[in-house]
Amino acid sequence: MIRSVVRGSGSALPKRLVTNADLAGRVDTSDEWIVERTGIRQRYIADDDETTSSLAIEAGRKAIEAAGMEPASIDLIVLATATPDQTFPATATRVQDALGCNGGTAFDVAAVCSGFLYALGVADSMLRTGMAKRALVIGAETFSRILDWEDRTTCVLFGDGAGAMVLEAADVAEDGPGILVTRLHADGEHNQLLYVDGGPSTTQTVGKLRMKGREVFRHAVVNLAEVLNEVLGEAGLTPADIDWVVPHQANARILDATAKKLGLPAEKVIKTVESHANTSAASVPLAFDVAVRDGRIKPGDLVVLEAMGGGFTWGASLVRL
Ligand code: UT7
Repeated sequence: MIRSVVRGSGSALPKRLVTNADLAGRVDTSDEWIVERTGIRQRYIADDDETTSSLAIEAGRKAIEAAGMEPASIDLIVLATATPDQTFPATATRVQDALGCNGGTAFDVAAVCSGFLYALGVADSMLRTGMAKRALVIGAETFSRILDWEDRTTCVLFGDGAGAMVLEAADVAEDGPGILVTRLHADGEHNQLLYVDGGPSTTQTVGKLRMKGREVFRHAVVNLAEVLNEVLGEAGLTPADIDWVVPHQANARILDATAKKLGLPAEKVIKTVESHANTSAASVPLAFDVAVRDGRIKPGDLVVLEAMGGGFTWGASLVRL
C-alpha cells in the first residue's frame, strides 16, 4: 500500500532566549506563577532580522539534509502558520525559492496551533493520491509579533520557532512505516475564545492575540483525549501500543491531564514546553525533532501527534517511523 513515510525532520529557534524573570521585569508576573500554571521556564523570541520564513527555511533545510535528499526532488511544500511574512504570497513560496525546491506545489495552511496536523493531513492525502512524491511539511511561527506585550495573561505563554518533516510516498507493507491515520476537526462556534483582533479584511491591521485561557484549557483536554482515542480506534490500537505522544506544547498541565485521561504514562509524552513555550503550529514538529535528535524517537516507533488551537481546530495523526 502507498503511505507517506517520514524521511527526516529539522527545527529552528531564534537566537534570543527570554526567561520568565525577564518577563517579570516587563509585566506583573513571576517565574513562580508561570512555572506553576504552565510549566514554561523560557522561550525564544525572534529579533528583527528573524522571520517566520527564515525560521522555516532553516528547519526545512535541516529536514531535507536529515532525509538525505536533493532539495530539487521535493515537489510539495505545505507550511502551517498564523504569522506569515506577508498577507501574500504564501510563506511556503519564499521557502521553496530559498531552498531550491523549484517546481511542484507550495502553499500555506492556517489552523493556528493545529496547523501542523492540518498541513500533515493535506500533504499525506496529496502523496497517497499521487499528486506529489516528496513533501516538506513545516510549522513555523513568530507569535511574538502578534502578542500584546502589556497583557500578562497571554504574553508569557508563547514563543517563536519552526519545525519540519520530509515525507515520501512509498509502497510499504501493512505493518510497515508511514502515516497510518489522521483525523482533523473544527468547531467555529468557539472563534471568540482564541483569536486575533485584526486582519486585512476587517481592521487593515495585523492585530493582537486574545484568549480566554481557562475556557480554552477546558475544551483542550476533552477534545484532545477524544481525537487521540479516535485515531487509535481507527487503527485498532490502544494507548498501550503507543511508544510516544508528541503533543502541541501549550501547557504542561494540559499534557499531564490528557495523558492521565488516556491512561498513558507521563514518560511517553514528549515535553518541550518548559524550554520553548507555546510556538503554535511549530510546536509539534519542533518537539518531534528534538526527540528524534536526542535518540528517544527511533525507527519502528509508533508515535501519535496531536494539537488543538484557535477556531477551535484540533487533530491527531498516528505515525509509524
Ligand atoms: O495553543 C492554543 C491553546 N491554548 C491553550 O491551550 C491555553 C490554555 N489555557 C491555559 O493554559 C491556562 O488557562 C492559562 C495558563 C492561560 C491560565 O491559567 P489558569 O490556571 O487558567 O489561570 P486563570 O486564567 O484562571 O487566572 C488565575 C489568576 C487570575 O487572577 P485572579 O482573577 O484570580 O485574581 C489572573 O489574573 O492568575 C492571574 N494571572 C496571572 N498572574 C501572574 C493571569 N496571568 C498571569 C500571569 N502572572 N502571567
